[in-house]
Amino acid sequence: MKTPHCLVFDSGMGGLTVVSELEKQGFSGRVSYAADTGFFPYGNKSDAELTRRIPAIARGLIDATAPDIFVIACNTASTLALQIVRAVIDIPVVGTVPAIKPAALKTQTGTIGVLATPGTLRRAYTDALIHEFAREKRVLTYGSVELVEMAERFAAGEPVSDAELKSVLDQLILQLGGDAIDIIVLACTHFPLLRERLSALVPAGVQLVDSGEAIARRVLSLLPENAMKSEAGNVERGELYTTGASPSMERLVAASGRFGFTDFKTINPTDWL
Ligand code: DGL
Repeated sequence: MKTPHCLVFDSGMGGLTVVSELEKQGFSGRVSYAADTGFFPYGNKSDAELTRRIPAIARGLIDATAPDIFVIACNTASTLALQIVRAVIDIPVVGTVPAIKPAALKTQTGTIGVLATPGTLRRAYTDALIHEFAREKRVLTYGSVELVEMAERFAAGEPVSDAELKSVLDQLILQLGGDAIDIIVLACTHFPLLRERLSALVPAGVQLVDSGEAIARRVLSLLPENAMKSEAGNVERGELYTTGASPSMERLVAASGRFGFTDFKTINPTDWL
């Protein structure tokens, strides 16, 4: 049978953490990557701008690359536009939403921290997740686009100090009741790029959870029964598309070799918008 082709999409390089999970969970097939570097970051953009842009970019990318599955590896985009994207394209779309449910099941103290972008924290979708799965818990949140930038800089090999990271973590942990947090949800796909750094800085015993594994499992569940799956995964890297020159594009190019992507293509999405 035809090798499955999955296109992973994010504003920048956060979706590379999802590509790593796909490989870890045994996805066998081709993975291409697209980053909307011309509009990065999404986390501080208005809902109106993103609602207009994301479905148009998704449509254009899918027409250009013909994947079998489209993964929106971005909480900021998915919590706003997943349904709209599904309405304009006719292949399976997997979204990324904050791992509130697993965190609520896991917490021993009943207090969960959520680190996300300001956009994700503004969404009715995120409120609904908290209401549905963590109503009985205390949920403290902090939204930061600075942490998104730090993740990109770190992944691109630029220096990021503990003090910078701690200044963001403190905004969450030093909130009233924050000393009881035992789980922090990394509700932005960029943040797992900093997992080891953040783990070393949070108070002892605090666990970090994200949605990467769940997304990868969802993708695998959508493959035809007889699609190849293997223990270690066997991911052939396709093209890496960017939508325009920006510091985010430079950082992505700097980091992407480590994630196995070498075939860069710049697209101009103006005609799609
Ligand atoms: N990686 C994206 C997310 O999961 C957001 C980064 C951005 O602000 O563009 O939310």
